[in-house]
Parts: sequence; structure tokens; C-alpha cells
Amino acid sequence: MINIPKGVQDVLPQDSYKWKKVQQVAYDIANKYNLKEIKTPIFEHTELFLRGVGSSTDIVNKEMYTFLDKGERSLTLKPEGTAGVVRSFIENSMYNEPLPIKMFYITNCFRYEKPQRGRLRQHTQFGCEIFGADTVQADVEAILIATNFYRSFGINPVAYINNLGCAECRKKYAQALKNYFAKYINTMCPDCQKRFETNPLRILDCKVEDCKKIVANAPKIGDVLCDDCKNNFNKLQELLKSANVNFKVNNMLVRGLDYYTNLVFEFVDEDKKLGQNALGGGGRYNNLVEELGGKSTPVVGFGIGIERLLLYLEDKGIEIEKDNNVDVYIASLTDNLSYVINVAETLRKLGLKVEMDIVNRSLKAQFKYANKLEAKYVITIGENEILSKKLSVKNMQDGNQYEVSVEEVLKGNLNG
Ligand code: HAM
Repeated sequence: MINIPKGVQDVLPQDSYKWKKVQQVAYDIANKYNLKEIKTPIFEHTELFLRGVGSSTDIVNKEMYTFLDKGERSLTLKPEGTAGVVRSFIENSMYNEPLPIKMFYITNCFRYEKPQRGRLRQHTQFGCEIFGADTVQADVEAILIATNFYRSFGINPVAYINNLGCAECRKKYAQALKNYFAKYINTMCPDCQKRFETNPLRILDCKVEDCKKIVANAPKIGDVLCDDCKNNFNKLQELLKSANVNFKVNNMLVRGLDYYTNLVFEFVDEDKKLGQNALGGGGRYNNLVEELGGKSTPVVGFGIGIERLLLYLEDKGIEIEKDNNVDVYIASLTDNLSYVINVAETLRKLGLKVEMDIVNRSLKAQFKYANKLEAKYVITIGENEILSKKLSVKNMQDGNQYEVSVEEVLKGNLNG
């Protein structure tokens, strides 16, 4: 037997209703905010992620599924959704269309991570990117879309928010961090020593316990923000409060990707059942479009992990409603298959979920199977029923059995 690779999972037929529901909710929320769907390929040129996600990130340094194709091109399975969307935005000159352009996607992402609960090598993200709006309203809208997505499942996880500042603030902050970490860097992990040179902000995201202790007393971004950035962040908090968003300021939040400017946010499980793992996260990235060769365009967006959402719901004891059961099971006792198929197809056209016997079971076994399917009605079709033009219908909920004319059955009237 060949087993499933490490760190990935099947969605089995008995669980797929949960995924269907998540997708429906995502489409519904996206529709309310007028987001249009974008689909980008599962692999891109490796360079896109090197430049897009950032060469100082763990994702790029440790986690990418990179391979050479038969033409010796270096390709990478997408580790996240944003870079591909930005590539497509530029390649299709979307900046020439009326802005803002608001997009969403549901996509698989691939990261070579150490598998654990809620941390997979293939995961799924519901993501959103709002291009061409450098305003606090756009920031609020992004957070509200994610919040309302969660609320649709009866949960309201807290959003940690932080402001990484404009380019000037970040330059000042990077210097302040360098000054602070200079005293400790020799005792920190090899990754942090590299980060110290390439991007000291990344040190704040280190998961090594000893480094975390040093990080705890590092300067906070709030100490160096310019007036504009401060005012924007205050305004954002006012608006989030008035929209009843469950949020907290977390000055240490930097997120694991290099492209963010200004706002970053992360939805977290404060019970920590998902470990250190966030439920979803995002932020503003005003330089990425230009850095990838496009016309300067501000963007704000987020990505929500679907597998983690499902685990979180499980932890909270929240069940996703099951798909509706089979409406009608057609039990057949005749060789006149075209007759049976015609009844089934007519009822399906009326919108009913219909099953019929396709494995030649005995009548008794067909009823047993209909029971298992929790069918609401069983219609029995035998030679007698065909001749009399009256079909036997059993209401499986109350056990009543009666005859209904074929004419009425074909109109979907099954109650006699
Ligand atoms: P991210 O925080 O790297 O952001 O991922 C977004 C979400 O994807 C995480 O919060 C988590 O729920 C889920 N996720 C990430 N890695 C895994 C994994 N290994 N296993 C299971 N779930 C995972 C981004 O990817 C950005 N592109 C989000 C964004 C969009 N920012 C702006 N626009």
C-alpha cells in the first residue's frame, strides 16, 4: 500500500460538506463586499517568491517546494497567495482599470514545514487583496471581511493589530532594533544572527525561547512612529471599535513575510490550542507591486487558513451543519430501467436530491440502504406500479406509506 505523504491530508467524502460550507461562506462574503475571484497557477517562477515573499523569510529560506521542470526552469509551488495575484495584476495591467480592484481566492499553498496540528505541508487559504486604496477605510474593510467570514461560523477570534510604519519609520525602527540587539546578538540563534544583517525586524518573529526573552524588551515600533503613521493607526482603532471588531494592539507583531508596510494583523486563538499558529493574517503592502516591476499601487489583504479554521471550530465544539439528506430514494423492482431513470431525472430537474438503485439490490436491501442515506421519501417502482400509473411512496420520517399518481410524483408532489 502506498501511504499519503507526510504533512498533507485527504478530505474524505464524509467531511467534504464542511469544505463546501466554507466555500459557500467565502463566496457569500466576497459577494457582499464586491470582491471578484482570481485564480492563479499553483506554481510560479521561483524568482517571484524570492522577490515577492522576501529573501529573509523562513518561507523562502526553508520552506519552498522548488523544482526544475524538464526545460530546466526553476519553479516553485506557491507558498502563499499574494505574490501570484500581484504578478497577475502587473502582467495584465490591471492598474489601467478603475481602482480599487478587489479580489479574492481560495487556493492551496505549499510549505515544507515540520508537520503538527494545524501546520501542514499543503494548506488552503481564503485570501483577499484590495488594490489601489491607500486609506484607513480600506484597512478596515479588509479586517471586516475576515471578521465577518469568521462570524458566519459563530466565532469571533481576536485580531492582533500593529503598525510597522512608513518607509521612514521602518528605517528608524530597524536602526533602533540593531542598536538594541547588538549587545545580545552573539548569544542569539544562527537565524537571528543572519536576520540582524538582512532584516532585524524578522528577529521579532523568532520562535526560539532564548531569543524570545531578549525580544521581549526590544524597542517597540510605537516609540518611533511618525505623526502621520500614529494618527492613521489611531483612526483605524477608532473605526474598528465603532464596527465592533474584536481587536488588540500587539506592538510585537511583525508577521512572517517581508512585504508588509504600515498595517499588519493576525487573527489568533488565545486558548492556544493551535499552538503558536495564527488562524489568519494579513496587512498592507504598498511597495510590492512596484518592487515586482509594476506601477506603484498600494494594497491591503489577508489570508485565512481553512484547515486551522476547521480545527478551531472543532475545539470550540461548533459543528458545521451537514448537507441536506437525500430527498428521494427510488427503489425499483422492474426491468424497465428507462422508466425508473426517467422518474429520477425528472425529480432531479425539480431540484430534489435523488438516489436510485444502481447495484441491483433486493427490495429489502434497497429500503435498508435508503434508511442509511436518511432519505426523506422512498418511491417504489415495480411492474404493478407502472401498469396502474400509481407509485408507492413511503414517508420515511413518519413511516406512512401511500399511493401517488405518476403525474403528481413527476411534479414533485410526494405527500399523496
Ligand atoms: P500567512 O500568515 O503566511 O500569510 O498565512 C495565512 C494563513 O494561512 C495563516 O494565518 C494560517 O491560518 C494559514 N497557514 C499558513 N501556513 C500554514 C500551514 N503550514 N498549515 C496550515 N495553515 C497554514 C500569507 O500567506 C499572506 N499571503 C496573507 C496576506 C494576503 N497578506 C496580505 N494579503
